[in-house]
Amino acid sequence: MNAIDSLTTYRISLEPSGREVVCKEGQTLLDAVLRSGFPIPYGCRHGNCSSCKARVLEGDYQLMDRVSEFALMSFERSEGYVLMCSTLPESDMVVEVEELEEEEGARYYPIHDFDGVVVENTPYTHDIHKLTVQMDRPNFDYAAGQFCEFVIPGMEDSRAYSMATPCTNAGLLEFHIKRIPGGKGSNYMCDLQPGDSIQGSGPYGKMYLRNRSKPLLFVAGGSGMAPIKAMLEDLFTQPITDDVWFFYGARTKKDLYLLDYWTNLQETHDRFHFIPALSDKEPLDEWSGEEGYIADVVAKYMEDFLGMDAYLCGPPILIQTTLKVLYKGGLRSSNIFYDEF
Ligand SMILES: Cc1cc2nc3c(=O)[nH]c(=O)nc-3n(C[C@H](O)[C@H](O)[C@H](O)COP(=O)(O)OP(=O)(O)OC[C@H]3O[C@@H](n4cnc5c(N)ncnc54)[C@H](O)[C@@H]3O)c2cc1C
Ligand code: FES
Repeated sequence: MNAIDSLTTYRISLEPSGREVVCKEGQTLLDAVLRSGFPIPYGCRHGNCSSCKARVLEGDYQLMDRVSEFALMSFERSEGYVLMCSTLPESDMVVEVEELEEEEGARYYPIHDFDGVVVENTPYTHDIHKLTVQMDRPNFDYAAGQFCEFVIPGMEDSRAYSMATPCTNAGLLEFHIKRIPGGKGSNYMCDLQPGDSIQGSGPYGKMYLRNRSKPLLFVAGGSGMAPIKAMLEDLFTQPITDDVWFFYGARTKKDLYLLDYWTNLQETHDRFHFIPALSDKEPLDEWSGEEGYIADVVAKYMEDFLGMDAYLCGPPILIQTTLKVLYKGGLRSSNIFYDEF
């Protein structure tokens, strides 16, 4: 039994829907609401993006320290606003929360806790590892592009890692983990050995394929390749009828991975275009491909993004610079989906 199962529970009433969910002591409001199957807006799940902002009308709560000053300003805090992903109830509560409008193509999968066993841990580059995990739930269903949260021993917060393959219903999940110097979560994940057990929950996230029948643009950097790989592999399970572009940015040649894999796919799919680029090529790097920041490379190839959907994943600077290029080229935010990390 999960330790949380024996804890005090609180009743959370959501306004204006009138829906009620049960939240356990130590569980965040967002976690309780998502597990009840009620779709509300969210993004990072760590108090950074403010997508899950809501207003407490009644009740006591604790806002976790991780909430960024920018995601929730001090005047908002004094007006009772909270970030649902980082709020722990301390009594029954009434919370005013935005309900997600039913979006065409949106998919809502139930969230489960799971235990897993590491099957493989192989370095892809000097700091990115491929980690394969066999879960105890073969029927774990998710959309390509979504992510799981993993329990990191000794840490209050979990860490998010995106699935790098589409769902196979065999309960085998692949992740690409970048080791961050001094980062507790990524070092724990990168040091796992075959046979080690691991606990997590999921699936989470809203970056998944919406419409397959239109030109598509994918842009990734670093381990941001993981969810993009899952989406592209999902896409290629059916014939593609429109152009699909994948721009991948790395600093130097030693930061690139799966280059042959993408190049081979390009050879078998006429309409798939793979453009890797190095932003900080080293003197000894043998490289005749594109150079520069990936957003600039995208702009070099395309000026007009009308009629496309775009999926982006990578560090904040990649997302911000690529968004500028896309907006300039006429793409609306409703056609852009991204995870920033
Ligand atoms: C939706 C989502 C999906 C994600 N998917 C993946 C994934 O598939 N693969 C993956 O590798 N990561 C992914 N992440 C990031 C991951 O969840 C962790 O944030 C990351 O591994 C750092 O955690 P840490 O505990 O090692 O570092 P922390 O202890 O949180 O941070 C240590 C220090 O490193 C800095 N830092 C944190 N992240 C970075 C970074 N990327 N580059 C440079 N400095 C950093 C922090 O500011 C801090 O100073 C995802 C994040 C989100 C929100
Ligand atoms: S989901 Fe990003 S702040 Fe809550």
